[in-house]
Amino acid sequence: MRFDVLTLFPEILEGYLRQSILKLAIQRELVQVKLWNFRDWATGKRKSVDDKPYGGGPGMLIMCPPVFDAVEEVRRDGDPLGQLIMLTPQGRKLDQKLVEELAQHKRLLLLCGRYEGFDDRIRQGLQPLEISVGDFICNGGEVPAMLLIDAVIRLIPDVLGDETSHKYDSFSETGMLEYPQFTRPREFRGMTVPEVLLNGNHLEIQRWQKQQSLQRTRERRSDLVPQSVIDEELNPKKQKRKRRQELPRDTGIDET
Ligand SMILES: C[S@@+](CC[C@H](N)C(=O)[O-])C[C@H]1O[C@@H](n2cnc3c(N)ncnc32)[C@H](O)[C@@H]1O
Repeated sequence: MRFDVLTLFPEILEGYLRQSILKLAIQRELVQVKLWNFRDWATGKRKSVDDKPYGGGPGMLIMCPPVFDAVEEVRRDGDPLGQLIMLTPQGRKLDQKLVEELAQHKRLLLLCGRYEGFDDRIRQGLQPLEISVGDFICNGGEVPAMLLIDAVIRLIPDVLGDETSHKYDSFSETGMLEYPQFTRPREFRGMTVPEVLLNGNHLEIQRWQKQQSLQRTRERRSDLVPQSVIDEELNPKKQKRKRRQELPRDTGIDET
C-alpha cells in the first residue's frame, strides 16, 4: 500500500517513518510512504503557499495553485491515481470502520493543512474525502496523517507480527472494547491475575474474555454494545431460536 503525504512540513513525518512497525513494513516493501512539500510547487517571486483570507479574519490560508499543481503531479507519479484525503476537523470522524475502509485502497494521498486551513476551493475542486481525527483542533494535518497511517497499516496483511492480533483489538471484529489482559508476575503489589486465566481451560477462558469485553464496553462505552447482544438479553429464547434457524445444518458450532 502506498501513502503520499502532501504537507508544508515533511520533516515532521521523517522520524516517524524510521520507527518500529512502520519502518519494518517499509523495509519489507509492504508499505511505501512518499513525502511531498507544497512549497516545491510555489510560483511567483516570493514563492508563497499561503495568503490572507478574503473578508478578513486572523491567520493565513493555504492557496489553491500550489495544492492543485502538487496533487496533479503526485497523482501522475504512480498507479493507481489513489484516493485523495484532506485532513480537516470538519470531515468524517476517523473510527475503526473508516480505517477498515481505507485499508482496502492501494494508494492514499493525504493533504495536510496548516495555519487557518485550506482555501475552500481546494475542497470544492479536488473533492477529497474529508477526514477528522476528532473534535479538537491540531496545529496542522501532519499528526492526524500519521495517526491515520498508523491505524491503517495495522490492517495490511503481514505488517503485524501476529497476523490475527488486530482482530481482537477494541472496535474490531466484535465492535466492542477488548477484555483486560495480564502478564507475569502472577502477583504484583497485592494484585493478582484472575484464576480463570491460569487454569488452561480454553473454553472457560474464552467465555470469561467475552463476558469481560461486554462488561467493559457496557461500563465505558455503552454506545458500542451491539444490538444483537441487547436483543438477546431482552428475549434470550427468541434470539436462540433465530440463531438456530440461521445456522446451516451440522456445522458443529456450539449454539449454547
Ligand atoms: C489549525 S487547523 C485549521 C482549523 C480550521 N480553521 C477550522 O476551524 O476548521 C490547521 C490544519 O490542521 C489540520 N487539523 C487540525 N485539526 C484536525 C483534526 N481534528 N482532524 C484532522 N485534521 C486536523 C487540518 O489539516 C487543518 O487544515
